Amino acid sequence: MPCIRLLNMSLKKNINTEKLPRHIAIIMDGNGRWAKKQGKFRVFGHRNGVKTVKKIVEAAGEIGLEFITLYAFSKENWNRPYSEIDALMQLLVNAVNNELTKLNEQNVKLLTIGDISKLPVPVEEKLNYAKKLTENNTGLKLILALNYGGRSEIIKATKKISEQIKNNKINIDDINNDLFNKYLYTAEIPDPDLLIRTSGEYRISNFLLWQIAYSELYFTNKFWPDFDKEDFYKAIIDYQNRERRFGKTSEQIKK
Ligand code: IPE
Ligand code: IPE
Ligand code: MG
Repeated sequence: MPCIRLLNMSLKKNINTEKLPRHIAIIMDGNGRWAKKQGKFRVFGHRNGVKTVKKIVEAAGEIGLEFITLYAFSKENWNRPYSEIDALMQLLVNAVNNELTKLNEQNVKLLTIGDISKLPVPVEEKLNYAKKLTENNTGLKLILALNYGGRSEIIKATKKISEQIKNNKINIDDINNDLFNKYLYTAEIPDPDLLIRTSGEYRISNFLLWQIAYSELYFTNKFWPDFDKEDFYKAIIDYQNRERRFGKTSEQIKK
């Protein structure tokens, strides 16, 4: 979009603020390929990926989004080389260290989903500190998915519900969507309206399996370090031009 930039025009003004998604979830993919393309190590891509995170979180705050969830480390990512995992954990701690004051000033509330107790202790401690510091903030909810897997989240919820049944706390007939939701990491978070994946991969990779039942999906070929605010606005505008029918007919929706 170079011509738009030259004219200093932004797609931001084309966003319908009356029809904003409440929650956008992003599978931030393509850091490694972005780096490799330039003959650099994968970690160079991750470092630049953090820059994109900053820009997108800023954009989300500016447009008044309520929730943004970023898939930062999946359960399956433990299968990567140890050196890459280590670099990712370092980057995470550094990013929190560098950005926390600003996020707090911007009234951002930091949350996590996934089992952070299995992360290296300094990472877990830093995250808990950041969550505590921002817990009363009322602006954008920034949710980091870390050591997250959709299937294990569902299994975890199922186990907890089974335990409650065994202890006669609930009946089998009490199980419905609302009850199940309460046992997920996302109990207090609405389902994503829009799910974005970068890097040209058309898959979900075990992300928010329960929660994306009716999310609008948006895929872009851009690698995450190249994804910018304009790309983010473009995805939102695309979302706003869709008709969400939730099983109904178009005629019913338009009424
Ligand atoms: C996404 O980029 C970041 C994480 C999964 C942590 P990748 O590291 O998956 O980059 P590609 O997909 O190999 O290019
Ligand atoms: C998904 O990306 C996980 C994150 C973005 C953190 P991956 O790059 O790990 O996904 P796959 O393995 O290619 O599906
Ligand atoms: Mg990837």
